[in-house]
Amino acid sequence: MRNRLLIAAVLLYLPVFSQTYKDKKATVEDRVNTLLKEMTLEEKIDYIGGYNDFYIRPIERLGLPQIKMTDGPVGTRNYGNTTAYPASILSAATWDTALAKRLGEALGNDARERGVHILLAPGVNIYRAPMNGRNFEYMGEDPYLAGEMAVAYINGVQSKGVVATIKHFAANNQEWDRNNVSSDMDERTLREIYLPAFKAAVTKGHVAAVMDSYNLINGEHATQNNHLNNDILKNEWKFDGIVMSDWVATYDGVAAAKGGLDLEMPNGAFMNRKNLMPALQNETITEELINDKIRRILRVIFRFGFYDTPYEAVSPLKANTQSEAVALDLARGGVVLLKNDNILPLQNKVKTIAVIGPNADLNPAGGGSSFTEPFHYTSLLKGIKAAAPGAKVVYVPNSIPQMENYADNSPLYLDKGSKTKGVKASYFNNMDLEGDAVTQQTEKSINHTWGGETGIKGIGADNFSARYTGVVRVEKAGTYKFSVKGDDGFRLFVDGEKVIEMWGDHAAVVQSKDITLKAGKDYSFKLEYYEHGGGAQISFAVYQDNVDFSEAVKAAKAADVAIVSVGYNGSSESEGSDRTFKLPEYHDQLISAVAKANANTVVVLNSGGNVDMQPWLGNIKGLLHAWYPGQEGGTAIGEILTGKVNPSGKLPASFEKKWEDNPTFNNYYDADGDKHVLYKEGLDIGYRYYDHSDVKPQFPFGFGLSYTTFDYTDMAITSNGKTDVNLTFSIENSGDYDGAEVAQVYVRQVNSPVARPVKELKAFTKVMLKKDESKTVTVQLDKDAFSYWKDDKKAFGYDAGTFEILVGSSSADIKLKGTVTVK
Ligand code: BGC
Repeated sequence: MRNRLLIAAVLLYLPVFSQTYKDKKATVEDRVNTLLKEMTLEEKIDYIGGYNDFYIRPIERLGLPQIKMTDGPVGTRNYGNTTAYPASILSAATWDTALAKRLGEALGNDARERGVHILLAPGVNIYRAPMNGRNFEYMGEDPYLAGEMAVAYINGVQSKGVVATIKHFAANNQEWDRNNVSSDMDERTLREIYLPAFKAAVTKGHVAAVMDSYNLINGEHATQNNHLNNDILKNEWKFDGIVMSDWVATYDGVAAAKGGLDLEMPNGAFMNRKNLMPALQNETITEELINDKIRRILRVIFRFGFYDTPYEAVSPLKANTQSEAVALDLARGGVVLLKNDNILPLQNKVKTIAVIGPNADLNPAGGGSSFTEPFHYTSLLKGIKAAAPGAKVVYVPNSIPQMENYADNSPLYLDKGSKTKGVKASYFNNMDLEGDAVTQQTEKSINHTWGGETGIKGIGADNFSARYTGVVRVEKAGTYKFSVKGDDGFRLFVDGEKVIEMWGDHAAVVQSKDITLKAGKDYSFKLEYYEHGGGAQISFAVYQDNVDFSEAVKAAKAADVAIVSVGYNGSSESEGSDRTFKLPEYHDQLISAVAKANANTVVVLNSGGNVDMQPWLGNIKGLLHAWYPGQEGGTAIGEILTGKVNPSGKLPASFEKKWEDNPTFNNYYDADGDKHVLYKEGLDIGYRYYDHSDVKPQFPFGFGLSYTTFDYTDMAITSNGKTDVNLTFSIENSGDYDGAEVAQVYVRQVNSPVARPVKELKAFTKVMLKKDESKTVTVQLDKDAFSYWKDDKKAFGYDAGTFEILVGSSSADIKLKGTVTVK
């Protein structure tokens, strides 16, 4: 009888106990574990593959809502118009963690308005070379700066009940061939340069999700990299949230399951029943391995309250003025004044301003998954007009030739000797031009942009290739430009010789080659192209460009000042491919022509990093690095040009004079095309290299001009004898304008027993000072400031000794020095 009663009581209690997951008062772990018990094995496997591109699937019978994601880092991209913040590298250039936190909060609000649970940002891959097509989405060359800014950003996002995702883990430092390239480096380089920002995000920022990158690290894909995901992230750093893949960055389901991936995005193409069930049956993997992944996802869902509170999108969505105020403050704080030969701020006597260049009347932004469409924006032209109401602003629209405009009239003929204009086109329903063409036809020219279905028989929207053949014949001898623009891969052969090649997945990019042609002669050509996914474009043009800068020159001559707005945009700087170090075609010539016409020329530059400035830097009076300044960028730059705002941004990366000067110059690309990028420069990235090299950068890390001057005095260092060090110093604004200064604290070990960088950034602070005001700054350092990765101990540690503490206005302008002994 007693036993029966006991069984009855247990049976009665069981359903209640098993439904603990519904109980808001229960602990997160109890809720996770009881919900997990309710899931079938099939449900669990399905759950670790995303669905509908940007969601984790719902399980209605268990009350699990669908979890909605959106891209970042410069705006909530996916659900229509939104606030377009400046590029992340501009945020880093503010060196203002309070502002980074406000950015996070604003993004959190934007996400909530869109019913979004997970923001796919921030990105912290280290700036290794200026060409990386995604530098603009990241936070520069220094791991400490990137880490601090990311932690503030994450705190902001997550304070609004939205998950932040630190990406792309790890060492995803170039975009060329990003799916196939291995970033190969020693453990110390990985730990000291490429991982600290991720570590800070996890251990200090408590980020709830991590996104694995496309590339391989030391020969193993990130999504199945046991050392990175399991040893370091989950075991050492105790990360208990979700490790998700980048979109289509999983290559092997079982290897990914074992290698630490918890969620395959955008769907379970590999981590699915077909691949995982047999592996479970033959005990290659265990159900507990899958359970751990589910627990991680559920933990985040319960921790953030997603299970209990429905997240619903506001309708209709409207511009958010609070978010826009943050976008404006960022642009004001992160634009960097690089050169100023007594030209800025523009004086009241400036009566006529010529505004020239391709980026002046638009909203310059990097492309790819971070590209956001704002509700409205202020272009540079508009911003200058608003900031200088007393001046006459003369705008010269873009006069840079576009290759697409020449494509339809290119001198292409079907065959040798043929009088018929056009090309022969063959389309294949695979990406490798394999087998028989499914469609063959003649076309008048090659100038296709497909948003979706191509409309070509047998060819869908994605995963196809094409071959175009014909001859080029010109009437007038001379040098002609052969230009191809493609998204994705393309290669061009002329008379059997390969003259252009970009055979990889990437956004639309232009490649050109100058070829000298004889009049009336036939030159055979073959253009091959493939489309993988997303947007598709292939254009081919043969032309002699007619560059005419006469309007720009005329306007510049007649003005007191000429502002030239040049740089990249969403199609020339974007994920999926690298950009050039040289500015896009004709931009150098445009600057030079304007500078020749008017000595008072100021360049406003858009790019995610450095560009080759040598063709014109010596001929201009002012240079503002505007990065991609976001929807409010025009307002901020107008204010800076006219002195309403004093520039205070500082470079988060060293700007080399020439690409050859960069420490990665000899090994940024793989040797012999073997897909292994050897990070031979080790710790010698950016200022860590220039500090000990005879080669000096054009503009050093941490550099940025102001309209005022700052004096540094009264440094005092106290310590507890060990690694807790307290540093104070004063900064005075000794010039004529209110302004903000970024004080940078670098640490170096004197007589280090091992090779270490000359100095490393270990603290920074941005101080706002009115004219004549002075403030005392206090900075605390702890053992992280003195430590390095000790290979023999497999841990960070320090060697007792004397350390120099260097306080600078940039990495190359040290104002105060002191020493401390660390025991
Ligand atoms: C990018 C990620 C992005 C994802 C989803 C990928 O191409 O690398 O950063 O979050 O797409 O749009």
